[in-house]
Amino acid sequence: MRKSIRNVFMAAAAGVSMVALAACGGGDAGTTDTEESGAEGTDVDTSAECPADLSGLTVGFVAVGPEGGWRDANENNVQAAFKEAGADVKYAGTADNDQANQLQAFSSFVDEGVDIILLSATEATGWETSLQDAQEAEIPVILIDRMIDPDDPDLYVQRLAPNNEEVAANAAKWANEQFPDGANYVVLEGPSGVSVVNERNNGWDSTINDNFTKLEAQTANWSTEEGKTVLSSMLKSHNNDIQLVFAQNDEMGLGAVQAVEEAGLKPGEDVKIITIDGTKPALEALAEGKLSLVAEYNPLFGADAVQTAIATLCGEEVEKNFIVQSAIFDSPEAAKAALDAGRDF
Ligand code: AHR
Repeated sequence: MRKSIRNVFMAAAAGVSMVALAACGGGDAGTTDTEESGAEGTDVDTSAECPADLSGLTVGFVAVGPEGGWRDANENNVQAAFKEAGADVKYAGTADNDQANQLQAFSSFVDEGVDIILLSATEATGWETSLQDAQEAEIPVILIDRMIDPDDPDLYVQRLAPNNEEVAANAAKWANEQFPDGANYVVLEGPSGVSVVNERNNGWDSTINDNFTKLEAQTANWSTEEGKTVLSSMLKSHNNDIQLVFAQNDEMGLGAVQAVEEAGLKPGEDVKIITIDGTKPALEALAEGKLSLVAEYNPLFGADAVQTAIATLCGEEVEKNFIVQSAIFDSPEAAKAALDAGRDF
């Protein structure tokens, strides 16, 4: 039975207190339940703060791997934060959304007995057995960005992500204001089965006004090339009668810009394109007027995940959802201001 990492932390905390007491000639540490700390016959201050970092601990990161600018920014930020906190980070990225690789990596981390597992799931479903194995091994699992389905709160500590429904709803509110009489629009989605795709669709669909017409929605797999190909086909099949594109990430939106230009139309004028993420290339396109709205999905929450990990290892309760705050860029001026401020992802 794997020794609970919490006991390791609490013993370490107790150890620190005992050394402190010995160094200071004992002092009155107050009475404690020595059974709780396991320290026999010694006054131990079990109220001692848990160590402020993750030194000596191993973190297994089951990651998505190369996917685009947002993913690079997020995975680099998460790894840097955990390394900064002293953890030994074992990174296991996959390719082409291959969940089998992720399941294998997850299982290896459980067998290895890592102290924490971070999971960015390529697919929302199919994780129950893996998460139950981690629970039996007393390994806390923290969800990074992506949600799992079914959502069993007993099987993970916390999910950290911006609120996808809110991000998409804010984009729809902007569209409602831009097109008071409605418009024909299409949606470029991420891959099917990915949690954030459903969340973004829910946020958008529940907010867009009834006088809009959704002509069609297709996946372009987060890709610029596919975004261009898919939208080109949509423009042809609808005789260019599309005034608005809701692209669920920056790369697909930038592909849509290319398709609109190839069709002889002006992005930002004939066709307004909305994207989600807020990476530098998208802000540069917004600054040029080729994108019309960039709703940020802030990727920089590694430090927050570290705090969740420390709190968990110290036996503290944490919220099931940590909502990462995100901005919305709705003008070339807003984009230029962010770029001038040094935005670098
Ligand atoms: O899960 C977040 C999404 O995954 C981002 O919006 C997209 O760019 C990434 O590929």
